[in-house]
Amino acid sequence: MKWAASLLFVNLLSTVLTAEIDDGAPFLQVMARSSVYNVGEKKAIYCKGLNLPEKIVWYSPSGNIVEGRSVKNTRVYVERPKNETLVSSLVPLIIHSTKIEDSGNWTCKAGSLSEKLEILVGEKVNLSVKEDSFIGEESKSAKLDCVAKGYPKPVVQWYKDLVPIIDDHKKYIVRKREDNHQLEIRNLTHQDTGEYTCKVTQKALSYYTYKRVFLTVQHKPVIVNHDTNEVYYTKYSSEEVYAIVNKTKNITCSAIASPPPTFRWNRRQNGFDGDAIEDEETVLNSADGTTSVLQLRVYNESYLGEYKCSVSNDMGHVSIVFDVQLGNKPNPPDSVNFMYATASEMIFNVTCSTCNLAVEEEDKSPDPKNLTVIGYSFQLVPFQENYPADWDAATEFKVDIVWSNDTLFTVGPLANKTTYHVRVSSRNAAGTSEWVEVLPPPSTSFAVKLVVSVVLLFGASVFARCY
Ligand SMILES: *[C@@H]1O[C@H](CO)[C@@H](O)[C@H](O)[C@H]1NC(C)=O
Ligand SMILES: *[C@@H]1O[C@H](CO)[C@@H](O)[C@H](O)[C@H]1NC(C)=O
Ligand SMILES: *[C@@H]1O[C@H](CO)[C@@H](O)[C@H](O)[C@H]1NC(C)=O
Ligand SMILES: *[C@@H]1O[C@H](CO)[C@@H](O)[C@H](O)[C@H]1NC(C)=O
Ligand SMILES: *[C@@H]1O[C@H](CO)[C@@H](O)[C@H](O)[C@H]1NC(C)=O
Ligand SMILES: *[C@@H]1O[C@H](CO)[C@@H](O)[C@H](O)[C@H]1NC(C)=O
Ligand SMILES: *[C@@H]1O[C@H](CO)[C@@H](O)[C@H](O)[C@H]1NC(C)=O
Ligand SMILES: *[C@@H]1O[C@H](CO)[C@@H](O)[C@H](O)[C@H]1NC(C)=O
Ligand SMILES: *[C@@H]1O[C@H](CO)[C@@H](O)[C@H](O)[C@H]1NC(C)=O
Ligand SMILES: *[C@@H]1O[C@H](CO)[C@@H](O)[C@H](O)[C@H]1NC(C)=O
Ligand SMILES: *[C@@H]1O[C@H](CO)[C@@H](O)[C@H](O)[C@H]1NC(C)=O
Repeated sequence: MKWAASLLFVNLLSTVLTAEIDDGAPFLQVMARSSVYNVGEKKAIYCKGLNLPEKIVWYSPSGNIVEGRSVKNTRVYVERPKNETLVSSLVPLIIHSTKIEDSGNWTCKAGSLSEKLEILVGEKVNLSVKEDSFIGEESKSAKLDCVAKGYPKPVVQWYKDLVPIIDDHKKYIVRKREDNHQLEIRNLTHQDTGEYTCKVTQKALSYYTYKRVFLTVQHKPVIVNHDTNEVYYTKYSSEEVYAIVNKTKNITCSAIASPPPTFRWNRRQNGFDGDAIEDEETVLNSADGTTSVLQLRVYNESYLGEYKCSVSNDMGHVSIVFDVQLGNKPNPPDSVNFMYATASEMIFNVTCSTCNLAVEEEDKSPDPKNLTVIGYSFQLVPFQENYPADWDAATEFKVDIVWSNDTLFTVGPLANKTTYHVRVSSRNAAGTSEWVEVLPPPSTSFAVKLVVSVVLLFGASVFARCY
């Protein structure tokens, strides 16, 4: 069908050309532009002549005359139309199943007139596998394959998480063996886990394709600080934890590990591990296997001291000791004022004149009895007529104090046009203060009206300006 349609198109074109150009002078034209074909395509390239002194002849890139179709010659041939005359002729060069060797300059000639057509037959790279995964081991190497066979020879570039990889002969090595552009990643660490992309480009064919490889590096656990995400590189690390008497302190042990790790908690006394803490109400392991929380309730000073979190998997094990000390309970804010609200946020003015707000690192108090207040905690729960606030169902928003003069804090996202019970407490490294409730309960606004009126105003002003 396609074939027939293109023939028809060419015929239409020739009629138009004839009508426009035929002034009796000899004329010859190849009715195609130099272009790129794919291996295996079927092509018909027309050469058109008017008022020619001789017959049209096609020459191959090697300079040979292209013959007509015969039993011997079935792939590349010239088709002579039955009604061909010197006054008007249209001679197609037919190439069945194009080959890379067909690339070159083909010439259509009649007497002294001739026109050239440059053809490039290319083979697009067809990556047999477009997605793959690879499991490597810590300190070993990973070799990722990218077999890209094509013509013209493709340009291949590897990326890690979309950043180009440069062969540095140390960490990354890219080797080319025949059509395989293999990436070797040496001395694997957990940081090498990620998505690697091999991008294959054939500019002459305006073509690119790619293959993605997901690399997982199996490694021994790495403990990270739950708040800052900093990695603890030493085998035995420790951290100070402050707690308030009679309040639950969540001690979070976070790790990156593959395969997923198991966590174990031990109370340490006199330098030795005591019995493992296994109570399901005390130890909560996250579903994704990256954290374990020890919910420690310090009833009296006998609960203070060292708690060890050990993290292990098949590749090894590491541990961290949390040294639990008593910290002071911060003072509550002395004023909390609701300033204003949008449809999704509320803004409050919070001050705490009796809090230690030294936020500059060098001013931070190392005194466990006078810990720096690092921010406030807001709890919000929708207001219901005739019901007391159900604080257990409240949503918590934590805000940090960046400058000691910070007093305005934004809380959200919230539901629009809703009244909330709000309460606020100060936060330090040990925990939170008593709560201060915001009265009367504030409400978020309903933005649509505002937006509509702004649009109306804007519309009106544009209208006024135009007319
Ligand atoms: C040859 O004849 C066909 C139909 O028989 C016609 O469509 C075509 O235009 C003719 N070609 C020339 C060059 O006159
Ligand atoms: C085709 O001819 C052009 C000039 O007309 C030349 O630049 C090009 O190299 C030729 N291509 C081949 C494959 O010989
Ligand atoms: C690419 O290769 C696959 C199989 O390896 C084949 O199914 C597919 O048709 C090929 N695509 C092209 C455009 O050649
Ligand atoms: C491998 O990486 C680790 C961690 O980055 C490093 O300590 C070690 O020296 C590296 N080994 C080699 C052979 O480069
Ligand atoms: C802790 O709670 C217990 C009872 O639950 C109480 O006897 C004790 O006084 C409280 N201690 C402090 C410091 O509040
Ligand atoms: C401690 O963690 C548990 C579980 O994640 C949570 O329900 C509880 O509210 C947390 N307690 C404190 C004081 O943060
Ligand atoms: C601390 O509390 C535990 C029980 O929670 C109790 O057995 C112990 O006697 C208390 N120790 C002190 C010093 O009060
Ligand atoms: C916030 O509240 C304090 C104390 O009520 C007041 O001095 C201060 O001016 C308020 N700040 C703003 C921005 O309203
Ligand atoms: C707490 O520390 C701050 C800053 O280090 C200091 O200005 C303040 O006097 C201290 N308060 C008490 C009660 O020690
Ligand atoms: C708060 O203090 C910082 C630096 O001390 C200053 O840059 C900032 O302008 C102050 N902000 C206000 C609202 O006073
Ligand atoms: C307000 O909340 C309702 C219900 O959640 C929602 O359908 C509506 O789109 C919200 N309007 C605005 C302006 O956010």
